[in-house]
Amino acid sequence: MREAGKLAAGVLEMIEAYVRPGVSTGELDKICYDYIVNIQKATPANIGYRGFEKTLCTSINQVICHGIPDNDRILKSGDIMNIDVTVIKDGWHGDTSKMFSVGKVQTHNERLIQITQECLYKAIEVVKPGASLGDIGYAIQSHAEKNHYSVVEEYCGHGIGKVYHDEPQILHYGEANTGQEITEGMCFTIEPMINLGSKSTKVLSDGWTVETRDGRNSAQWEHTIYVNKDGAEVLTLRKEESSSF
Ligand code: MF3
Ligand code: CO
Ligand code: CO
Repeated sequence: MREAGKLAAGVLEMIEAYVRPGVSTGELDKICYDYIVNIQKATPANIGYRGFEKTLCTSINQVICHGIPDNDRILKSGDIMNIDVTVIKDGWHGDTSKMFSVGKVQTHNERLIQITQECLYKAIEVVKPGASLGDIGYAIQSHAEKNHYSVVEEYCGHGIGKVYHDEPQILHYGEANTGQEITEGMCFTIEPMINLGSKSTKVLSDGWTVETRDGRNSAQWEHTIYVNKDGAEVLTLRKEESSSF
């Protein structure tokens, strides 16, 4: 899991330099595919997953998650985009995503991105043996709502290991001291999706792309974590965040 997590994080580090106005999400997808297969000697988990055909999910602006990379979708200054990638190494999965700002982004969007990352970090901070899954949801929901944002409820984090989406479900909303107890040795993702406006979602006719109903922007960050005796080890940590945990 450590190796898979490191590789997934490495994909997000590698692709940063290519995320610029004028590039298409299809091109970004191809670069990541080639990197995972040829350099990392690993497997892109999304390809073939329930019929998904791409390596990445690229979710721009009002797209909440599961955006499909496309050669015709060219990034422009002001876009905010989540790139979500999962790699399989020796049978184990590493799943992670981060937000990218394309060119010059409006302040309210930068703020959404930052608060959403804080939601993820606050959730990671509460993870330790003896805490509950509800503590994770509470940490996220309370920070989001304090900032007048809403939490998407239809999609959640998940247990992860040899299986990509395993039990338990990790809800991004909830009440402290409720739900399953967190125990040493668990591996799961936390991946809050936070909306500027209302929490309502819709799935587009492609069967994948999830958007906000009100058309306002959404942000997401995801890490895969391992629960050790003291707390969470972030398996998909990037170099840029090494001071955060
Ligand atoms: N990586 C996503 C998650 O965080 C799942 C993507 S499934 C796909 O769980 F098929 F859309 F790629
Ligand atoms: Co996930
Ligand atoms: Co993911």
